[in-house]
Amino acid sequence: MQTPIGRLAIAAAMLTLAAGASHADQSNSDVERAAIGFRIAPVPLDLRRLNKSLVGQGSYLMNAAGGCNDCHTHPNFAPGGDPFAGEPEAINVAGYMRGGREFGPTTSPNITPQGAQRLPAGLTWEQFLHALRTGEDPDQTGAPAGHPKLLQVMPWNVYGKLAERDLRAIYEYLRSIPALPDNPNPGP
Ligand code: HEC
Repeated sequence: MQTPIGRLAIAAAMLTLAAGASHADQSNSDVERAAIGFRIAPVPLDLRRLNKSLVGQGSYLMNAAGGCNDCHTHPNFAPGGDPFAGEPEAINVAGYMRGGREFGPTTSPNITPQGAQRLPAGLTWEQFLHALRTGEDPDQTGAPAGHPKLLQVMPWNVYGKLAERDLRAIYEYLRSIPALPDNPNPGP
């Protein structure tokens, strides 16, 4: 028969094993997600000065889960590359994330890296995090005091629930994609 001490030792060993296993699962899944992210990124990535694992995971979150392309790339697909028409998918690389999809009174913005600092949509990490967490429009011009303007179309209420690390991965990926001028041909 086991002594209480023996049982404790076994329980402690099992806890250690479980902790070890979940840690291993977690890092494997980061590696796997980053690998998928690099495989499915539709554009060439500039990885200089960026955390590669985060870039890969950010691509995974944006291109395999987030659906950001639906709204921020217009049109979504290159000619002949529309999977909904039974064609092999080809993302519109020339317009990737430069916005231009019209939603009633608003149009999706260009979220490619801007300026020498290559800030996504021109936003610092703090501004980006704040916008996704709270839905507050980074551009508050004209908003009455105490009533911040909220993003109206963007599903920030969903993305805002992500772990900070995942939002950071998305930010890091956005810093790695090609910088493009705003879409000159916006449309529905
Ligand atoms: C349903 C369409 C839609 C989807 C999906 C979407 N966005 Fe947006 N996004 C918009 C629109 C439209 C705006 C402009 C503000 C608004 O919502 O009215 C915007 C604004 C933004 C902004 C703020 C930029 C600024 O300077 O104002 C960021 C950053 C952004 N989106 C990133 C993303 C990312 C990253 C994803 C995917 C994880 C994503 N969006 C998915 C439609 C969308």
